[in-house]
Amino acid sequence: MTTEKKNKLIIGLFGFGVVGQGLYKVLQEVQTADAVIKSVCVKHKDKPRSIDSSLITLNPDDLLNDPEINLIVELIDDADAAYHLVKTALMNGKSVVSGNKNMLAHHLSELIGLQREYGVALLYDASACGSIPVIRNLEEYYDNDLLQSITGILNGSSNFILTRIFQQGWNYNDALKHAQKLGFAESNPSFDVDGFDSMFKLIILALHGFGTLVDPEEVFHYGISTVSDHDILYAREKSKKIKLVAQVSKVNGKKFTMFVLPKLVSDDEYIYNVEEEYNGVIIEGQFYDKQFMFGKGAGAFPTGSAVLSDITARKHSYRYEYKKLNFFASPVYTRDITVEVYLRYHDLVDLSHFDFESVSEKYTGPAYNYVIGKIKLDTLHKMKNLIRKLNVFIAWTGKID
Ligand code: HSE
Repeated sequence: MTTEKKNKLIIGLFGFGVVGQGLYKVLQEVQTADAVIKSVCVKHKDKPRSIDSSLITLNPDDLLNDPEINLIVELIDDADAAYHLVKTALMNGKSVVSGNKNMLAHHLSELIGLQREYGVALLYDASACGSIPVIRNLEEYYDNDLLQSITGILNGSSNFILTRIFQQGWNYNDALKHAQKLGFAESNPSFDVDGFDSMFKLIILALHGFGTLVDPEEVFHYGISTVSDHDILYAREKSKKIKLVAQVSKVNGKKFTMFVLPKLVSDDEYIYNVEEEYNGVIIEGQFYDKQFMFGKGAGAFPTGSAVLSDITARKHSYRYEYKKLNFFASPVYTRDITVEVYLRYHDLVDLSHFDFESVSEKYTGPAYNYVIGKIKLDTLHKMKNLIRKLNVFIAWTGKID
């Protein structure tokens, strides 16, 4: 047997949705991958699919217990089911490629342990920023102490929606429906528009960038589902756009903070021109200032290509070493910072819930009201469930203390 033959990847694929189909087509086009899909496990057998029906099974064990399958690719929607599949696969001695950011953000601690214990690998570059190779770069290039912050648009759907609203005057619901139709949005679109998806991705980036895994419950995230014409008008008057931004940054040498918030972005910022389903990530470091990565963040082929890259990385036995986690003093997560926000509200009673440290601007008009003020991130986090029930919209001005 030649080495090449021995290293051939025999894949068991879970899920044949947008990304699964994207991967299947990408693999058909690629001559060099030397990887073949042996079986595809799906939930509903009778759906029409552009794949040989003899490959399809409903039984996960057909993949998990097949000794010939040496790589599991997990591309299903259900995070709990994905967790059990990935865990079983690793314990069965099979390496795994996954795109499930929700599952990873909740279970990475245990899954890192299982990789070590069973001598297998779990790769998931496709889980954050679609086609942009952020995780592998954080792991390999930024494997030193210089990294100061990672800021970016990590969710393609919300960026698509905001682009259509800002550039083409679409209404929010039509833009969301279109993002769903194009296969960008999660099956529960609240994950996209309320910042969950960005938050899960941010947690993964923070682990690889700074070496600390943060519980999703501890991260403040707020999205764009309540953005209104007033907010769009306000942004336009200030020559700004609104983008859903996720940021993780060092606070001092030993601490770091993270959050997801819509941001008022000015035209001198790299992400100002990141439109449609594209993502953009700004990496800031000591001595090298800023770097910018840009690419498609959602969709069948961009994400399918990212999965392919993880598959071919496995061909060369690549694994994450979790360098920041294993070889550096992990910084402590804090919400003890202050952010300056624009808060649009209608009723004074809604405003009264916000305990601002200071207010620099107040506007009261016939149609809407707003304040610009500084508020503790921890204060926002404590009221995160309440905020979603209020008739308000919040956007970060970019100032942080
Ligand atoms: N729903 C996600 C997004 C898909 O819109 O970015 C890619 O992770």
